[in-house]
Amino acid sequence: MEENEPEEDRIRIREMTIDDFPEVFHIGEEVFTAEYSQSLYRTWDEYEITTLFNSDNELCLVADAGGKIAGFALATTVEKHNSPWKYGYLVWLGVRRDIQKGRVGSRLFTEIKRRMKEHGVRMMIIDTAADNQPAIQFFQKQGFDDVREHLYMSLNLSRKSTKKRGKKS
Ligand SMILES: CC(C)(COP(=O)(O)OP(=O)(O)OC[C@H]1O[C@@H](n2cnc3c(N)ncnc32)[C@H](O)[C@@H]1OP(=O)(O)O)[C@@H](O)C(=O)NCCC(=O)NCCS
Repeated sequence: MEENEPEEDRIRIREMTIDDFPEVFHIGEEVFTAEYSQSLYRTWDEYEITTLFNSDNELCLVADAGGKIAGFALATTVEKHNSPWKYGYLVWLGVRRDIQKGRVGSRLFTEIKRRMKEHGVRMMIIDTAADNQPAIQFFQKQGFDDVREHLYMSLNLSRKSTKKRGKKS
């Protein structure tokens, strides 16, 4: 392997192992920040990694750059009793900040798509925040269309209600 070879050329897409969990978790913390996307920030935690790994480890991939993880894709499949369709849900895709726009995301996506097809998936789905323009452009580039709007709401349970109650007569 050449010393001065660009990092993206040394990348190998492989299945995630238990040893990768901490690095994947920290890359997630680095990219799913509150400033970048509130919804991604709030829902990313270590259980996302372990749960998806337990349910579908063949669809949990990392981009390995000579022993250092450059990015990851965590996905699962969904089957419905009353439908012949099998869905492939790409839940998390993250690329280390310093190597973004270097095609790592595309390579992870291509391999996830290939594996999903092999698993009999007929439709792939993703979701992301409406203001996550980089991700929207990325997924459109991969061929996603038929964008459906989806509302994300939150309720802060630790805040005391400031609503004044009407007087009882
Ligand atoms: C979205 C993400 C996974 C893309 O991975 P990447 O390795 O940076 O993307 P690639 O280099 O493979 O880009 C492929 C195409 O996607 C689009 N794209 C990627 N990043 C983009 C950006 N920041 N702005 C606009 N378009 C972008 C471009 O069309 C690009 O093609 P081009 O280079 O020919 O213009 C990465 O930016 C990321 O980790 N973002 C933060 C986490 C996130 O939002 N994940 C998705 C929801 S879970």
